Amino acid sequence: MNEEAATNLDEMAHDFLMVSETYSGTGPANPYPMLAELREEEPVMDGDILARFGVPSQADYAGSGRPVMTVFRYPDVHAILRDSTNWKSYIMADGFGAAVDNLLLTGMDDEEHKKYRALLAPAFAMPVIARLQETMMRPIIQREYTDKLRPKGSADLVRELALPFPVRVVYALFGFPDDGDGDTVMKFASWALRILSGPQIDPAKLAVTGPAAMDAGQQLFDHVLPIVRARRASGDEREDLISFMQNVELEGQRFTDEEITGFVRMLLLAAAETTSRSFANLLIMLFENPEAMEKVRADRSLINKAITESMRLDPVATNLARIAAQDMEVCGVTVPKGTAVTLSIGAANRDPSTYERPNDFWLERPMRPLLSFGFGPHICMGMHIARMEMAVALDLLLDFPNLRLDPAHPHPVIRGMHMRGADAVHAIWDA
Ligand code: HEM
Repeated sequence: MNEEAATNLDEMAHDFLMVSETYSGTGPANPYPMLAELREEEPVMDGDILARFGVPSQADYAGSGRPVMTVFRYPDVHAILRDSTNWKSYIMADGFGAAVDNLLLTGMDDEEHKKYRALLAPAFAMPVIARLQETMMRPIIQREYTDKLRPKGSADLVRELALPFPVRVVYALFGFPDDGDGDTVMKFASWALRILSGPQIDPAKLAVTGPAAMDAGQQLFDHVLPIVRARRASGDEREDLISFMQNVELEGQRFTDEEITGFVRMLLLAAAETTSRSFANLLIMLFENPEAMEKVRADRSLINKAITESMRLDPVATNLARIAAQDMEVCGVTVPKGTAVTLSIGAANRDPSTYERPNDFWLERPMRPLLSFGFGPHICMGMHIARMEMAVALDLLLDFPNLRLDPAHPHPVIRGMHMRGADAVHAIWDA
């Protein structure tokens, strides 16, 4: 790695920690016992579980003082996510919408959401992404990451793998030019992370992170736009997202380069660190469950199950939010119109009424609809990308002989009330 790339990786690791700090607040590192108690005793709680611990919440990012309730049970969270008629998403754009000119699919509702989603979805469909898994994802992850790691015999797998590979993969998926050592990629990732660190409850912190987020949004835009323009000027048609967006039409009109740049920026926010955190969490759960690790190593067709189960047990999007379009009843409690709800995906994913042995990492678990990519009309558009790139990275890593946690370092901890993840996962193997 050249010097600039190393500096950019340091910066990206720093920005990643900033996001973890922002969404940890004063909450316990392991919130699950508390969430279990609340799910049992107050399944629809008055107040916002995130705000209670000083964590910026999508339910009221702007701190407007709107009423908020928190919903903990699986059946209620599932029903709310499916019902976009009565539960709206526009509040999801309150926090960092401004930094991306409010072009956020998650924050759109009704016809606007349907229109944009229908337009973009074909590029994210399972068969399209499945084709890219072997032709694009595997070569990049192997050549640029695991082949370089293997002779080293030890590494912090967050810093050296989980952090950089997802942004590198989406960068290729967009069709950005290959910069060899991935240093531009990390700069892009840092800007995206700074946007995510923008919302803060503490006004003193906000005074710093708010302008930094706006600046990062602008920097991303200014750096992506020339790439999009150059592609248009070249007339090159390729099987990537920029070409796709340059060709689709909305109501008879093609997207402008500025609009495409806006979409790309939105996707950079959604795509990278969610996958980094999920991948590191998956590794930790496999290290902590050596029997499951051995089963997956021996039978790689179980990788997909391992991904699903790790995302259930510790979801990165630990909470989502919606707002009631009319008076609603949830689990016998009235949620008045205009009240926002924080949906505790973390609590729902361990609801014993839905999941047997909810606190165990259990590969043979019977299938239930997974809420960790959301559910219903806003379900994660990039979930096939995320799953497939994580599957490739895990497959390659499982070939490292005698892969295990490094006893010279503290046991990794997944922490945070929201955006849960680990700061480091130090591992060793026989080089
Ligand atoms: C493991 C990694 C990921 C996780 C945990 C994750 C999680 C989520 C969740 C929970 C939502 C739903 C938000 C809501 O209902 O309000 C969502 C939406 C979205 N995600 Fe992901 N995501 C991941 C990776 C990706 C990737 C790789 C991309 C793109 C390349 C992506 C693009 C999107 C987009 C565009 C939406 C908005 C969809 C809509 O509102 O219609 N995500 N994601």
